[in-house]
Amino acid sequence: MIPISLKQELQQRITRAVTNREAAVDVMKELQRHYGWLSDEAVVEAAELLELSPLQVEELATFYEMIYRRPVGRHVIHVCDSISCWSLGGESLLQQFEQLLGIEVGGTTADGVFTLLPCCCLGNCGNAPAVMSGERQLGPVSPESVPALLAELRNTLR
Ligand code: FES
Repeated sequence: MIPISLKQELQQRITRAVTNREAAVDVMKELQRHYGWLSDEAVVEAAELLELSPLQVEELATFYEMIYRRPVGRHVIHVCDSISCWSLGGESLLQQFEQLLGIEVGGTTADGVFTLLPCCCLGNCGNAPAVMSGERQLGPVSPESVPALLAELRNTLR
């Protein structure tokens, strides 16, 4: 259950939106920030806040790849696999992440720190190959720079 202060904050944001659906992504992202992922409980809470059905929220949640409907690590690393990034080495970059994290794409490290996911174009094609972690857009990211990037992300948890 979300704290009353967060609930009130979200209610205000919904009031300011033109339609409740317009506020849906914002609400889902905030609940995800609170829970770490968008649990079934969070879907029901979002639906109540937005005055939508849980199924409507579910449909929106599955449409946005930055909304996680299953538990993820503290850092979710999205590696773009669309054409610009792919043509500039995105595939070997993804393999480098897999190798250094010891997981396959879609997986989460045993310590729960990292989840590795592919994603569609991040709108950062000019900096391909591009990666997104949290709200951070990164690029161009070389396979050689991945160890330092992972160390930096780990350090943010200390
Ligand atoms: S193709 Fe990767 S950011 Fe656009």
